[in-house]
Amino acid sequence: METSPLTTHIAIDHPLIPGLHLTEARWSDRATLVRLINDAPEISQNTVAIPYPYSDQDAEFALREVFWKQDQATGQVRNFVIRGQDDVLMGVISLFHRSENDPRDSAELGYWLGSPYWGKSVMTTVVRCVLQVAFGDYGLRSVSSGCFLGNNKSRRVLEKSGFQLLDGQRTYTKLNGQVVQSHRFELKNPAMAQQAME
Ligand SMILES: CC(C)(COP(=O)(O)OP(=O)(O)OC[C@H]1O[C@@H](n2cnc3c(N)ncnc32)[C@H](O)[C@@H]1OP(=O)(O)O)[C@@H](O)C(=O)NCCC(=O)NCCS
Repeated sequence: METSPLTTHIAIDHPLIPGLHLTEARWSDRATLVRLINDAPEISQNTVAIPYPYSDQDAEFALREVFWKQDQATGQVRNFVIRGQDDVLMGVISLFHRSENDPRDSAELGYWLGSPYWGKSVMTTVVRCVLQVAFGDYGLRSVSSGCFLGNNKSRRVLEKSGFQLLDGQRTYTKLNGQVVQSHRFELKNPAMAQQAME
């Protein structure tokens, strides 16, 4: 059995989901990844690099070649799995670090949640927690993110978490060749922004 090279456990308080926590992605998550992504086409539709339908091979590729590889490059878990009390995967949240950058530079936040958990403020709670880790433990200067035009749920999550909408939009080509427009958002490390003003 393959294992993640790095481990983590971050507990999160949530009034409706006891035992909500973040960990590294695990090899045993493959079946749940496949089920949740295939059950909700909105996950693929609203992200750039998640195929639909989603196969076992897609899950294996994501674990080995995306999550674990990026985490090893930074030496920190930055691709988190969202779990409940039973430890089963509910969704994913990632701070994508572009390897050519300084690891303390900016990272791109991406996330999705399985449809059984939508509408309970889970993602807003999780985003706020990951931002604390990003700016505190990891000392990132800023976090950027984006949502496709019309993805108002995700836009709301970002706005409620303090992100500022940037001017202009970015064009992406998805894995299936579809061209999409995205709003861009940014949040600067509040402690560094305060220091810069002093
Ligand atoms: C987007 C997503 C992560 C949201 O997760 P969630 O836990 O349900 O989100 P939350 O409950 O924390 O917040 C959603 C907010 O959007 C609001 N909302 C719901 N439907 C909406 C709509 N059609 N238009 C505008 N706002 C909407 C909710 O009311 C809530 O805001 P509120 O707390 O102020 O009432 C989840 O739906 C998902 O994974 N979708 C598919 C993948 C995706 O879009 N990923 C993000 C890519 S940028």
